[in-house]
Order: sequence, then C-alpha cells, then structure tokens
Amino acid sequence: MKPASKGLALRGGPPVRRERLPYARPEILDEDVAAVVEVLRSGWLTTGPQVEAFEEAFAERMGARFAVALSSGTTALEAALFACGLGPGDEVVTSPLTFCATANAALRHGARPVFADVCDDTLCLDPDAAAAAIGVRTRVLLPVDYAGHPADLDAFAALARRAGLALVEDACHATGARLGGRPVGSRADIAVYSLHPVKHLAAGEGGVATTDDPELARRLRLYRSHGIDSDPRRRAERGDWRYEMVALGVNGRLSDVACALAQSQLRRLDRNLARRRALAATYDRALRDLPGIRLPVVRDGAEPAWHLYPIRVIAEVLGADRDLVHDALRAEGIGTNVHYLPVHLHPYYRDRFGLREGLCPVAEGAFRELLSLPLFHGMGDADAEDVVAALRKVVRELGGS
Ligand SMILES: Cc1ncc(COP(=O)(O)O)c(C=O)c1O
Repeated sequence: MKPASKGLALRGGPPVRRERLPYARPEILDEDVAAVVEVLRSGWLTTGPQVEAFEEAFAERMGARFAVALSSGTTALEAALFACGLGPGDEVVTSPLTFCATANAALRHGARPVFADVCDDTLCLDPDAAAAAIGVRTRVLLPVDYAGHPADLDAFAALARRAGLALVEDACHATGARLGGRPVGSRADIAVYSLHPVKHLAAGEGGVATTDDPELARRLRLYRSHGIDSDPRRRAERGDWRYEMVALGVNGRLSDVACALAQSQLRRLDRNLARRRALAATYDRALRDLPGIRLPVVRDGAEPAWHLYPIRVIAEVLGADRDLVHDALRAEGIGTNVHYLPVHLHPYYRDRFGLREGLCPVAEGAFRELLSLPLFHGMGDADAEDVVAALRKVVRELGGS
C-alpha cells in the first residue's frame, strides 16, 4: 500500500464536510405526521381500516392481486415460505449476498438454506448456479433483488416451472423496480418487501408480501395471525366469539399507525424513485473515470429501484483496500456501509453447518470490495457533490495519482 497524503482527513487534513452524511436516512414530511396523528385520534392502533387500505394501494401499485401487510420484511419472508408449504428437511436455494433474514426464514421452518453463487455484474443470484444447487429436497427458489436491481426473474420463473418449485422473490431492496417493463414481483409466486426506515417506504418496521394466488394470500394471513383462520375485526362485527387455530403462525400483524405512515409514503414512491435514479446517474457520471473503483452495473431492460449504490474497490488497482477507503471516507464526513458479509460466513452458519470460504467465490470476492455510498431520496445535490468530492479525493490521495 502507498503511504496516504496529509491532505486526507484521516491523516489530519480538513474533511470535505463536518457533519457526517449517513449512507441512508428516512424522510418524514408533514403529510406523514398528519396521517399518523389522524390514526392515533381514530382509536385504531392495531389491525384496523388502514391496514386494508394500505394493502389495496400497495397491491395496485405493484400490479399484484393481493398484498398482505406484516410486522417486518423478515416476518413476510417467513410467512411466504410457510404459505408455500415449506417444512422440516426441505431446502431453499438462495443468494449468500443478502441480509441474513433471507436465509434465516428457511431455518424458522426447520428447512435449510442452500447458497448458490451470484452473477459478477448485478450480484444477484446466478440462475445457472441456482439450477446446479437444486436437489431432491429443494422446494423453493429465493432470489434477492440485490441493491434494488432485479434478479434474472424470467430465468428464475422458467427454472421454477421446469423444476416444479415455488418462486419467492426477496424484493426488500426493490420496491418500485421493473424488469422488461414489468414490476418486480410479478413473476414470483410471492414477492416480499420491507418497510424498514432505510427502504423506499419507511413505516418504522413492517413488511408486505404480494401474490396473485388467493390460496397463498389466505395462508399468508393465516401465518400472520397465529394460524387462526378468522379475522378478529370481522368476528367483532358479527358479534362472534368463536375462533380456531388450524396451523402454527405468529403475531405478524402490522399496526394501523404504521400502515397510515406507509400509505402516506407510498403516494410519493414515484417521486422518490426518480430522485434515487437521478442521484445514481450523478454518481455514474462523476465517478466513472476513477481508477480502482467499479460502479454498479444495470442490465438491459432493468430499471433498478436504487436502494443502494454499491461501488467496488479494486485494491490491486487502487493500492488501497475497501476498509481503508471506508475509513478515509468516514473521516471526510461521508458515511458508507458494506452489503454484505455473505450469509454462509456468519459464525452461526459456519458453526452450525460447517460452511466455509470457497462455497460462493463470486459473492466472497465481491464482499471484500463492496462499499455502499450514501443514497436516499431525501439527499440533496450538495450532499451528492460532497460524496463525489470525497471519493475523488480519497482515490487521488490513497492511489497517489
Ligand atoms: C434483502 C433483505 N431481505 C430481508 C430483509 C428484512 O427486512 P426487515 O428489516 O423489514 O425485517 C432486509 C432488511 O434489511 C433485506 O435487506
């Protein structure tokens, strides 16, 4: 590694900005506050009319017949696998380059996640690698729309059909993304979205599962309410106290308060997607000539939702590795993050399943290089200019060019 110059804030030089820019930040406007206050005054706190209203609006926006709101993206994934009938001994083929909740959802049902490698350009699950990982116990394919770029969904839909598997899409990064002119989620049996504060719609916590299949929608709702096959609101309307539990579910409900907030934000989704795309285009233009920095790739026909803008630091070219670039940017006032340590390399997976480095070399190699720059729809042009200035400075100083 070359010695870093004094110009870097890391070495005592003046930072590009004093107040640190986070890599993500939710945007709460007055209209969101008003929507929440109205619900608080309505007397409904848990499942009330806002849940159904949000579900209808979300399903319409995503082009799905049904949307089921759940307490988190994690619970929505678990509900989706339950709805597909996943059970002990079954296997789910999925991506290692994701938040651990994707794979954990299989473990919740006594099933096992099987990790197949990702494509080197999009870092989404590679359909060929997934096909090779299918065995006699495989029941579900679970690709992830990494960073908001759609996975190769036509290939996965064809593979699922051919192999007689369910296709569950983890679209937690990809609310509003499209592929070949169609919304993500539209090829899957069930698609899952997250309403976590760093995502496109921030409800505090929350998730949504969409499907076109009425039976899958019924099973998603069943899992959401402890496996009880009738809705408490409808029972109260009928004056009926009877209910029966017919399967093992959880309390996976989302509150009316959260649904009001999510609905208010859904109204701005198109505007926010446009803003994220504009910021990504700014980075593309301003950073493409930087040596040792690889920018995210967009495949033909893909319209990513730009949840993240993950660059890759090629240490052999830059002369500095990802961790040094992370530290240098942080000192310049720019927050970044790493998405992700491949799931199979977390201690839990290593220890429990004996998984090791070498299982998914493309994902593992990418992990060593990945760094997500700040990207959120409330970000200003001046913020983006600071990110560009800081990264250019860091590359210049660390690379010594
Ligand atoms: C790819 C992916 N899947 C699932 C989840 C889980 O979503 P939640 O945080 O809403 O439980 C996340 C959240 O970060 C995610 O990024």
